[in-house]
Amino acid sequence: MKIIRNLHAMTLWSDRLRREGVTIGFVPTMGALHDGHRALIRAARLRCDALVVSIFVNPAQFGPKEDLSRYPRPIARDRRLCRAEGVDVCFEPTPADMYSERFQTSVMVPELAGRWEGTARPHHFGGVATVLVKLFSLVRPHHAVFGQKDFQQAALVRRLIADLNLAVGLTVHPTVREPDGLAMSSRNVYLSPDHRRRAPVLYRALSAGRQAILDGLRDGRQVDRIMKRMMAEDRIVRPEYLAVCDAASLEPLKKVSGSVVLLGAIRIGRVRLIDNVTVAVP
Ligand code: PAJ
Repeated sequence: MKIIRNLHAMTLWSDRLRREGVTIGFVPTMGALHDGHRALIRAARLRCDALVVSIFVNPAQFGPKEDLSRYPRPIARDRRLCRAEGVDVCFEPTPADMYSERFQTSVMVPELAGRWEGTARPHHFGGVATVLVKLFSLVRPHHAVFGQKDFQQAALVRRLIADLNLAVGLTVHPTVREPDGLAMSSRNVYLSPDHRRRAPVLYRALSAGRQAILDGLRDGRQVDRIMKRMMAEDRIVRPEYLAVCDAASLEPLKKVSGSVVLLGAIRIGRVRLIDNVTVAVP
């Protein structure tokens, strides 16, 4: 496996492979890799001849009070995982190279970025959209794989690719979970043992909402109430939002129909967790 840090070296590598007719798969990450990332890497591996994983903790998507400096960075372990999964290039650009002093461009997807995660984290999706356009320009993949775990992010990437004609195929891979239902996340390591035990309540609440829909409930507000009631059983966990939305626009639904996503975010202590489940309503 090659480790590439230099931006120009990344592009040269991709251009050479593209000229040879090799298809390039890409999994962008911020490192601290776990089995969720591993599943994305495997899915990308199956689709393409050559595979690039980027590890870049993107400062532009963290707010001033967020966890940028303490975000876990186990780089040796991450490289071992990539090597074991047959990754061809681990792309590890530096923040200074990615954002020069003169850097000023930003990519906005205002409607999708404004709601849910965007309310709590106003600059987050601008930072994500901007870094992804940069990473796509550097890696030049034919295909990229993202996780359903970050549903709003995946929706934004779909919009970004369509709006800017980025010519990158997109796969959204289902969320990988711990045995008790908690969605795997690099941030789960921040949870104390007590908070870790409580954290799956988010998935339980979303699943209860989905079950109510499967049982025939079509009133969005009533589904919300079912999820909130379940969350209220744990007094330590504070829900930030729980909502039944249209899976494409992410607008809340009064009447549940079509492709639906149930989105949720909670705080436990200082840790913020998000999750979602989908359901197709005939
Ligand atoms: P990161 O949080 O490292 O996640 C990288 C990719 O892994 C994302 O597509 C995310 O949705 C996916 N992922 C994380 N946990 C998962 C799980 N439990 N199951 C399935 N997929 C999972 O998301 C980012 O990094 C950044 O915003 C990035 C896209 C790299 C831009 O900086």
